[in-house]
Amino acid sequence: MSNMLRAAIQPLIIINRKKKKSFYEEQGIDLSRFLFLLAFNVVGNMVLSRDLLDPKSKDGAEFYDAMNRFMEWAGKPNVADFMPWLKWLDPQGIKASMAKDMGRAMKIAEGFVKERLEERKLRGEMGTTNDFLDALLDYEGDGKEGPRKISSQNVNIIILEMFFAGSETTSSTIEWAMAELLRQPESMKKVKYEIDQVVGLTRKLEENDTEKMPFLQAVVKETLRLHPPLPLLIPRNALKETNFMGFDIPKDTQVFVNAWGIGRDPDAWEDPLAFKPERFLGSNTDFKGQNFELIPFGSGRRMCIGLSLAHRVLHLGLATLLYHFNWELGGGLTPETLDMRERIGITLRKLHPLKVVPKKRGV
Ligand code: HEM
Repeated sequence: MSNMLRAAIQPLIIINRKKKKSFYEEQGIDLSRFLFLLAFNVVGNMVLSRDLLDPKSKDGAEFYDAMNRFMEWAGKPNVADFMPWLKWLDPQGIKASMAKDMGRAMKIAEGFVKERLEERKLRGEMGTTNDFLDALLDYEGDGKEGPRKISSQNVNIIILEMFFAGSETTSSTIEWAMAELLRQPESMKKVKYEIDQVVGLTRKLEENDTEKMPFLQAVVKETLRLHPPLPLLIPRNALKETNFMGFDIPKDTQVFVNAWGIGRDPDAWEDPLAFKPERFLGSNTDFKGQNFELIPFGSGRRMCIGLSLAHRVLHLGLATLLYHFNWELGGGLTPETLDMRERIGITLRKLHPLKVVPKKRGV
């Protein structure tokens, strides 16, 4: 994973080698783009064992483009959501465009699966389970009702879902963390000091280093408390009429859990709107689904299945950015003028992407 991170930050290193002050050095780079590439490639390696953004992979670039466009469409405000009688007309063409890009992505995913099935034939039917796709293809049911393969249509859908669920959630969390740290120079100083203490200045930062960084972990928790990427989790449906905490919920009601509101609830958190990673130091509160005041990954049976991957990428990704670079706000912004407004798409993103100027450190 470290190599992937290095590949993702390579373009930033090039910016730093230029002598003359470039446009980017003044205005800053759009960090979310690099972070999205990073997260997309991590999922690509876990699911398909391939770097989809390798310049040699034409299908990879197509797939990325289709999924990225789909997510952009999903983030556009749709008039039909406010005037449901206009739904059939699809006035902005959003539904049609999403269907087109989803169709493209699905076709390419189908191609990846076919290619893998051919490879598996060559290396013997079962082969060894190497990655997530192999695991899906090897699956034969839970043994209770006899062997059951996952249908090829469902394999394609699961693969797409991993990319949708795993890319933007991870990248937007790191972007928010960087934005919060740039607004709070004291927290930035503390986290950088901690990283330098653990890693020193002569070697590369490794994944297990982050386990020895309680302040970094607190920064990630505090970021997810204030900016859960899926603010309403995934919708639930009441299977039967229920009374929950005094509320009558009729059967078939769609229920949203407001994780965003819970993270800012003054009954649960002191000074809830302030970014204070220190609140988690020496506290057992975690986001693993046991503490209901902090549920950015949900809780219970439908909880995020990517939590352990996300946990690693968030800590390693953020620590790597902070270890290799000093960061400044671009476009003449200051911690006081940085716009922290949100916009909803597939995830809760920054309304205005964070523009930052990286300065290479001598490590
Ligand atoms: C910061 C990173 C992430 C956050 C905050 C996050 C959050 C969530 C949340 C809130 C849910 C719904 C849980 C519920 O409603 O109870 C979810 C579901 C899911 N997540 Fe994540 N996620 C992240 C990263 C990932 C990654 C890296 C992957 C995989 C590569 C992933 C895969 C999934 C999948 C497949 C589901 C759907 C599970 C289902 O259908 O029941 N997530 N995630």
